[in-house]
Amino acid sequence: MKDYQNPAWCQGMKLRINYNNMMKSALLPDGFTREELTRLPLSAALAAMKAKRPALRWMDLPHNQEEIVQQIEKTAAWVREEAEAFVVLGIGGSALGPIAVHQALRHLNYNDLPKEKRGGPKLYVLDNVDPERMAALLDVIDIKKTVFNVITKSGSTSETMSQLLIAVDLLKKAVGEDISRHLIATTDKEKGNLIKIARQEHLTTFIVPDGVGGRFSELCPVGLVAAAVCGIDIRALLAGAAYMDELTQNEDPMSNPACVIGALQKVAMDRGMNIHVMMPYADSLKYISDWYAQLWAESLGKKFGTDGSILHAGQTPVKALGVTDQHSQVQLYTEGPFDKVVTFLTVDKYRTVTPIPEGYPDIPDVHFLSGHTHNELIAAEQAATAYALTKSGHVNYAITLPEVNPFTIGELLYLFEVATAFAGELLNIDAFDQPGVEEGKKATYALLGKPGFDEKRAELNARPAEDEAYIL
Ligand code: PA5
Repeated sequence: MKDYQNPAWCQGMKLRINYNNMMKSALLPDGFTREELTRLPLSAALAAMKAKRPALRWMDLPHNQEEIVQQIEKTAAWVREEAEAFVVLGIGGSALGPIAVHQALRHLNYNDLPKEKRGGPKLYVLDNVDPERMAALLDVIDIKKTVFNVITKSGSTSETMSQLLIAVDLLKKAVGEDISRHLIATTDKEKGNLIKIARQEHLTTFIVPDGVGGRFSELCPVGLVAAAVCGIDIRALLAGAAYMDELTQNEDPMSNPACVIGALQKVAMDRGMNIHVMMPYADSLKYISDWYAQLWAESLGKKFGTDGSILHAGQTPVKALGVTDQHSQVQLYTEGPFDKVVTFLTVDKYRTVTPIPEGYPDIPDVHFLSGHTHNELIAAEQAATAYALTKSGHVNYAITLPEVNPFTIGELLYLFEVATAFAGELLNIDAFDQPGVEEGKKATYALLGKPGFDEKRAELNARPAEDEAYIL
């Protein structure tokens, strides 16, 4: 039996949310009150989510992928056997999840480990078209021993398609016309161009299901393929998400972790706290902040309400890392404007213990550290930072992972997805579209001469000329 099949083990891995430092207290007289939270239409928002659930197919991903998981495991087995490098080509929701999960669940210096310790190919995720990035990748991979995974839900994103063109050209030059052992496609079942190319090139293809938007796609093949290739237990990841699905269906809003997070953030926004700092105290969780930033920003940053009213809703996500950013940003968080909520991600049990050895007994200001561990130091620094913030009147709360493992990461990803959707309900916006991103995509197509974008090109060409006075 796997750990995640044992209910007692799962219970022990349950994430904890401690929001005392958001609430009114002797230390935080201007904190939130329970009434402020419960005054929000929480039950109505929960009911609305429940009614929408059949269309929100990302909510089914923890439960309906047995067959897909088997296919992914088969593909991962041959890739692990044949490839020295696995390169994800994708951007936004097609890249941030794979990066976050890899960093969380593999060795922090994974690519630098010898092959036998790594157990899988090196992983590279190309989520930019900086020309130097592609050139730098080509300097370190052997194209004949590389498998690319091109991921684009829409099948048309310029950045990803340009990378695909480069990869296909290089592959055909290196291995000949049959590139099917070197390229995997992950895309929509019919929309866009990648599916056409995948058919033409006879590629192993994984489908991004309908109703699963880019930033909600980490738990479908978008994220699972790279994770499985690098040896992550994707069944445990999905089991953690399924466990969180149960918790986030609790109809008592104040016992439902996604509702509590959504409600705290809504009250914060109502009080003008338009910045949300995500600050993990673990290097392994560093890129969860990047993934979360997209999820929160792109889902909630909306001009229009669902009733057509102009809202300009949203809260700016900021990425920070404990303890590193205590020495760069925390001064601002502690003494700066009251415009932020800080969310700490903390870990009870790190995967290793690093003792601090005995040394310099004649220098007490150094020697006091001896006999402690880095584990104690990082925990003390997080507690001290939370205290300093609270004492200065700045709200913060902590989400604690008992351990960082595939199950708890599945819980965390799913929790944030549901909390984001729930916050969208409270803000009365559509959390699942991204017209602002689409506008930029269309303008790029127009500038680069894509057929069908003449009107947009004319619109861009009609822009007023820039004033030389403002250019130095
Ligand atoms: O969340 C989203 O929908 C976007 O951020 C997309 O993930 C991003 O634009 C990439 O799109 P695609 O996967 O279609 O290439």
